[in-house]
Amino acid sequence: MEISTLYWHGESWYNFRSKVQQVMLQPRTAKLYVGAVQEASEAFVQRIKKVRDDDDETPDHFLNEIHKWSLESIARVALDVRLGCLDDDAPVETQQLIDAVNVFFKNVGVLELKVPFWKLFSTPTWQKYVNALDTIVEITSKHIELALAKAKMKNIDGGEHNEPSLLERLLAMETGPKIATITALDLFLVGIDTTSNAVASVLYQLALHPEKQKRLYEEVSRVLPQPGLPIAAGHLEEMKYLKACIKETLRMYPVVIGNGRCMTKDTVIGGYQIPEGVQIVFQHYVISNQDRYFPDSDEFMPERWMAGSDITHGVKHAFASLPFGYGRRMCLGRRFAELEMITVIAKIVQAFKLEYHHEKLDYHIDPMYTPNGPLKIKMIDR
Ligand code: HEM
Repeated sequence: MEISTLYWHGESWYNFRSKVQQVMLQPRTAKLYVGAVQEASEAFVQRIKKVRDDDDETPDHFLNEIHKWSLESIARVALDVRLGCLDDDAPVETQQLIDAVNVFFKNVGVLELKVPFWKLFSTPTWQKYVNALDTIVEITSKHIELALAKAKMKNIDGGEHNEPSLLERLLAMETGPKIATITALDLFLVGIDTTSNAVASVLYQLALHPEKQKRLYEEVSRVLPQPGLPIAAGHLEEMKYLKACIKETLRMYPVVIGNGRCMTKDTVIGGYQIPEGVQIVFQHYVISNQDRYFPDSDEFMPERWMAGSDITHGVKHAFASLPFGYGRRMCLGRRFAELEMITVIAKIVQAFKLEYHHEKLDYHIDPMYTPNGPLKIKMIDR
């Protein structure tokens, strides 16, 4: 389990985290990638036009198309590589990587939370999990090695280049290739399904709530009056209602429903004495769906996140919805996830009117909390 820093704890994790977060969590660093992320979002809009049917509906496997977009985006940001996931002739390894990440997430919970027979003998779940990780390491390592070689060449020739990738930024901090390589691998491991399931959920909610979608479209049209106009970092700040739509979706349907922590010392929380060594869970989903923190909590109301929202429905507790976690171990990819989500949703809403004409979908834990069933959203050209 040493392969990813997600399994690291204590000092080794802290040493790693304190180095990489200087690059990963600075909002101004994330904004430098708006161009790269935008290219992937525009490619996704074109892809939607190709895959929707004659009735303008997205196909049953639309979530997989969204995975392709998030893989394309993260590859551009992390490595400055164009994988071509959204092309008709996408390299077969991109789908293999998406499938492997999916298998990884489906099995990790079973291995971590159920009786660990895998520690005694190689169970089928363990085998699937290890095979998936092997595939992920094999495919990503190839790209990481190429990106490392490219970064070296850039240093030598010193000419004009694109924005340095995250890998290059980490190398420039003299963290050594090991830290840069492990970080890049982690970004592929957790940077695909999280963002794509969140985007799927936001699109579904917008399709279900035409009046909210209308307000969002008006905002996007005001900030970006011409559809072809490139999104600049300043535009992102202006899209306040779009940010509110994302926050509200993640409040009601947090893709990661809970976080675990092992207590490192005896602690009192909410009047309960928790001894050292005990595992506790912060249940995002339960807390952020309570009326006492979010009145009429079962109503999709992005307005509650806007400044000057009505007193009744405004947010009652700043910590009651923490979809990216909080504190020292907060999501390392948060700034990039937000950038990617804002950009792609702005581009989609600008290009299409979204409608949903089927039976309402239940949400399920798979293991991301996500709409269960074919995501057949009607995408009508504006
Ligand atoms: C909507 C999208 C996302 C959500 C909701 C999300 C949520 C989370 C949550 C809840 C955690 C655990 C935080 C904690 O324990 O306090 C986490 C950790 C993490 N996330 Fe995200 N995430 C998202 C996207 C991403 C992306 C795009 C990346 C990479 C580019 C990423 C990289 C990471 C990493 C590396 C960690 C582990 C941090 C550590 O252990 O130090 N996440 N994320």
